[in-house]
Amino acid sequence: MSIQLETDICRMFNIRYPIFLAGMAGGISTAKLVAAVSDAGGLGTLGAAYMEPAAIREAIQEIRQLTNAPFAVNLFAIDVSDNQTRVKEVQIELNQIRDVLGIPHAAEEPVVTPDFFEQQLAVLFEERVPVISTAFGFLKESFLQQAQSAGIRIVTMVTTVREALLAEQAGCDAIVAQGSEAGGHRGTFDLANHPMGANVGTLALVPQIVDCVKIPVIAAGGIMDGRGLVAALALGAQGVQMGTRFLTAVESGTHAAYKQTLMESTEESTVLTKVFSGRPARGINNGFIRQWDASGLDPLLFPTQNTVTRDIRNAAARQRNADYMSLWAGQGTRLLTSGQQAETIIKETVQQALNILS
Ligand SMILES: Cc1cc2nc3c(=O)[nH]c(=O)nc-3n(C[C@H](O)[C@H](O)[C@H](O)COP(=O)(O)O)c2cc1C
Repeated sequence: MSIQLETDICRMFNIRYPIFLAGMAGGISTAKLVAAVSDAGGLGTLGAAYMEPAAIREAIQEIRQLTNAPFAVNLFAIDVSDNQTRVKEVQIELNQIRDVLGIPHAAEEPVVTPDFFEQQLAVLFEERVPVISTAFGFLKESFLQQAQSAGIRIVTMVTTVREALLAEQAGCDAIVAQGSEAGGHRGTFDLANHPMGANVGTLALVPQIVDCVKIPVIAAGGIMDGRGLVAALALGAQGVQMGTRFLTAVESGTHAAYKQTLMESTEESTVLTKVFSGRPARGINNGFIRQWDASGLDPLLFPTQNTVTRDIRNAAARQRNADYMSLWAGQGTRLLTSGQQAETIIKETVQQALNILS
């Protein structure tokens, strides 16, 4: 078997190298990072899930000013209605953390998470972005058809063969197979059978999905350099999606205290937790997680837990206190580099892969 770096997804997405930047919501994959990855020959992805529609449009315009290369925008395909059950109990616990940070207690009113998914999507259609990617599920049929007729490629992240088949049958162009090593939220569609996400390792997941679907598979989870890229291609993936590796890139929006914690972390530092958002995600273990876990309380469901912890995470960021931020990261953090531009990360990854393959 001969492994080529230029795979079908390079043609499908009109990119030089089969390397996707993960869309990372929360201001991490900035327009500058997206444009830098795309300009270097990969596919930059704007993590737009928590962005207001007008801010998404601005970011898309900024990306287009910085590069002519294709890029993607990532959204969460998930119901965001709030459930008010147990909110009071959870706020009492969170108020203890608010006391530590010296910020006001929560007001006693219903939690309201804004739902602007359809307006976000409308911006992506109006702007005719080259690629839309989603986590937690895929777009409903009418939106998929609209994307197809506008020539927009659709990518969905999956964590099992079953989800991969559903995404393929729905008409997605490609899938990201997310292994348990991955940083951030588990893409698992339905948590009923897997409360903490499916969590199949990348090495086991990718070839099993590759064997079951015809559409291209992009491997994600723990891939940090050219060795990971070649390994993913050897498993039958047509490319990789990297999140954690770009967290310390110069152009990323990662908070300085978060970057420092990442650089000090190891393969032992992360845990799977629902405490920040109500959906399982991998991040560096810190004071917030330990304090919550000690309470023995179950977090609220997504997105309500995410909404009620936002003021705490924002205050922690203002105070440069990494102990109370959500520090999403994968298991490959010893392989992080500090102060590199995204272009250098792409070039080094490609060169290392070519050296292995030559
Ligand atoms: C900080 C961070 C934020 C993330 N946010 C998103 C997101 O908004 N949407 C999404 O589809 N995936 C998100 N992910 C998951 C990535 O798509 C991808 O599965 C993961 O980064 C791959 O593993 P790695 O971090 O080991 O490279 C995020 C990952 C990280 C590290």
